[in-house]
Amino acid sequence: MSPSTPIVTLGEGSTPLLRAGRLSAGPGVEIWLKCEGANPTGSFKDRGMALAVAKAVEAGARAIVCASTGNTAASAAAYAARAGIEAIVVHASGGPSSSKLAQVRAAGARLIEVEGTFDDAFAAAEELAQREGAAVVNSTNPDRIEGQKTAALEIIEQLGGPPDVLALPYGGGGNTVAYAKGFLEAGFPRLEIIPVQATDRATTGASAIRIPTPVHRAEVDEALALCGGAIVSVTDDEIAAAWRSLAQEEGIFCEPASAAALAGVDLWGFAEGTRAVFVLTGHGLKDPDALDRLPEAS
Ligand code: F0G
Repeated sequence: MSPSTPIVTLGEGSTPLLRAGRLSAGPGVEIWLKCEGANPTGSFKDRGMALAVAKAVEAGARAIVCASTGNTAASAAAYAARAGIEAIVVHASGGPSSSKLAQVRAAGARLIEVEGTFDDAFAAAEELAQREGAAVVNSTNPDRIEGQKTAALEIIEQLGGPPDVLALPYGGGGNTVAYAKGFLEAGFPRLEIIPVQATDRATTGASAIRIPTPVHRAEVDEALALCGGAIVSVTDDEIAAAWRSLAQEEGIFCEPASAAALAGVDLWGFAEGTRAVFVLTGHGLKDPDALDRLPEAS
């Protein structure tokens, strides 16, 4: 931020960090849930989007462009509307849920559908931005990461220190990189970070993380080498089970991708005294059809 950066805000951040009281874990283990679905457009993306849009406006951009599985799109559309600029969203056909598309359309953003995967949509968005002189607001934009890292600082504040373990879903990896940066810069270089991805990235029913190739893969690997931790992969059945247990044991309805974090970790495997935070990245109302689409408990 500089004195000439405009403030573009919808009240993002300051989301609840709730202690999980009913999920079963080993003795003396604390499980905390960071409820990022409580952000203005219902996902964690708002933290970084507020800054990315402000910086784009400061630089004189009249339009922003993103490729998205839905949440980045909803956030970009809302913050562009707030700032009075145009948003263009590129998505893979059949990618985003109808709720996320509704958010984008309601805000008056332009939607472009491409045949193929998220990777194809991302390539198309970059090309379009270049052609139109618009700012790309995917997480490859460093302002997105800067804004997003506030989530790590907030957790430190809420817990009175860093957690021992941080687990979160792994799509493109921008969120993982931002958390690692936040903890490192706050003086906490060592914690176990567990990015959890879908076993089959290209076809998972957790549509938010249906991303064949993570654009931040090298940075994620670097962050894990520095802080500690390892990538875990989970099946859609495992995601569905964790997703249902969050709603049924804790009263927290998140979107399926968010539950990947919990699906990837054995809560009974933690040593006594471990304090673990699970990042629930998006609200359940983002994808209500998941209730009928995802497998029932077996
Ligand atoms: N959880 C949710 C709900 C998401 O929407 C995303 C990514 C992730 C997790 C993964 O985060 O990419 O930083 O590793 N959604 C992007 C989008 C791709 O377009 O909304 P990541």
